[in-house]
Amino acid sequence: MELRDDEIAALGTKGFFVRDTFLGRERASSVHAEARQRAQTGGLKPAGIRRGADRTEDTTVRGDFITWVVPGPDTALGSLWQSFAELGEALSTGAYLGLGRFDLQLAHYPGGGARYVRHRDAFPGQSNRRVTAIYYANPDWQPEHGGLLRLYLDDGTLEVAPILDRVVVFLSERLEHEVLPAYAPRLALTAWYYGRDAA
Ligand code: OGA
Ligand code: MN
Repeated sequence: MELRDDEIAALGTKGFFVRDTFLGRERASSVHAEARQRAQTGGLKPAGIRRGADRTEDTTVRGDFITWVVPGPDTALGSLWQSFAELGEALSTGAYLGLGRFDLQLAHYPGGGARYVRHRDAFPGQSNRRVTAIYYANPDWQPEHGGLLRLYLDDGTLEVAPILDRVVVFLSERLEHEVLPAYAPRLALTAWYYGRDAA
């Protein structure tokens, strides 16, 4: 996988880029089918906020259900994992980001106004997430379904629709963002890349 010059430039200047057609139609619809299946039967857990002893579940802050995706052969989610690995390498080579391992999470917003309020995925100075990449798996998305990703940029906000086979890549420490209320089931797969020297 290679990044385009405009993608690398956008990451540097604005802190993000959006790529449509990350996997292509056929692989994308397999990812959607498998993600939906796991959302229905995979025992997803309410997403917590904060870690360790501070952990709470507050659905007014964050209303999605999550599980972790691990690499595996012969599955659509396994092949998505592989594409995220290639994306990480491309970011390291093309944008000199020096990324190491990543975690991959499946998140299901059930609808009914489920949202995730404005937040950052990482804070400067901690050895943690450097890049966030979100893959959307919603083939039938319509504007009335909501669930837009709102990015807070230097010069205002930008809303990104969570449509099938779109990927949004941003610098985890830099961009605040939120998931606006979703009124239909919404599936996203998010990779968080750590720095090469992270534990
Ligand atoms: C997150 C997040 C955004 C999205 O899980 O941290 O911000 O569009 N997700 O799903
Ligand atoms: Mn986030």
